[in-house]
Amino acid sequence: MQIHNLSKTPSVLNTFISEIRAKTIQKDRMRFRRNIERIGEVLGYELSKHLQFEAKTITTPLGKSETVLHKNDIVLCSILRAGVPLHNGLLNYFDGAENAFISAYRHHKHNPESFEIVVDYLACPNLEGKTLILADPMLATGQSMLATFEALKPFGTPKEIHLVSVIGAQDGVDFIANAFSAETHLWIATIDKTLNEKGYIVPGLGDAGDLAFGNKLQN
Ligand code: URA
Repeated sequence: MQIHNLSKTPSVLNTFISEIRAKTIQKDRMRFRRNIERIGEVLGYELSKHLQFEAKTITTPLGKSETVLHKNDIVLCSILRAGVPLHNGLLNYFDGAENAFISAYRHHKHNPESFEIVVDYLACPNLEGKTLILADPMLATGQSMLATFEALKPFGTPKEIHLVSVIGAQDGVDFIANAFSAETHLWIATIDKTLNEKGYIVPGLGDAGDLAFGNKLQN
């Protein structure tokens, strides 16, 4: 897998990442969602440099402008619910993308420290020959990303796969690096060292879904 860790090069992206992490600033849900969306825009922009381009001529009021435009048929797939702001950010840049949504959650069978990923809702277009962008804001264990990818298999074989994430744990990144092919790209804003016993990224930011949309009742 080809890993693009964007915070390796200091940029304004670090401001957005520090704001979603900061205990005081992240309490403002609208700002939290917007910062995740802005990170999605930056990741999408960097990813776009790896798409396939073709020559196009644009007619302006004053003449002709030669350019190159990407020609990929993009399907953007996100995991509900935490993935929604990241999805929006990517969609801001890939105007014509088709969209897939999947609901995957951690089911704690016996104790809070072990869980399996349960997929229970999936809406997806045909993926055959398309460019699949699979977005999950928090790449903790990597299991949700892999479970999602497995669930998408009946919808066709994409021509290329880009995984997009905001914060990853090194273990999760290593896990998906083994699970996905060498041609797969991972676009990630930053990578943290560790996971705690409940599978949360440390230092991370907490629960991305709750921060974006409010607390949920556990069932
Ligand atoms: N999901 C989150 O929202 N946060 C984590 O740290 C890990 C998974």
